[in-house]
Amino acid sequence: MRIAIGSDHAGYRLKQHILRNLGSKYDFIDMGAYSEESVDYPDYARKVAEAILDGSADRGILVCGTGIGMCIAANKFPGIYAALVYSDETAILARRHNNSNVICLGGRTMDYDAALRWVELWLNEGFEGGRHSRRVGKIMEVERELCGRGSR
Ligand code: RB5
Repeated sequence: MRIAIGSDHAGYRLKQHILRNLGSKYDFIDMGAYSEESVDYPDYARKVAEAILDGSADRGILVCGTGIGMCIAANKFPGIYAALVYSDETAILARRHNNSNVICLGGRTMDYDAALRWVELWLNEGFEGGRHSRRVGKIMEVERELCGRGSR
């Protein structure tokens, strides 16, 4: 599994913490930002979303100050299902129930070591299917109607 990871300046330090601690265990593609110099989070949400949509990555991790801006921006791309995760339970359910392919984290609002645990819980959890397939299918139906496509 290839994981595209991106941040803005406010998420940079948490992105680096994730790469430092999990980089030898998982296959990450670091899409920037590469410093704490001020940048715009939608540019990095776009890079990660496009990497998933063109098949160069399977999943994505996006970090900004709160995770909120990244989540809003990433979910504009049909085929991207981005979840703001903030606990062990939401990390697990974002896969089991929502089949999310991107998680969003807050570099200014979240505990760094908890965030590492949430990343691993999320990476290793599967989609439960069943009634959740029907619900996710309804989101994809909206994508098809409004945008002409959905990826899954
Ligand atoms: C940048 O100051 C901050 O607004 C951004 O990182 C993010 O938290 C937006 O949602």
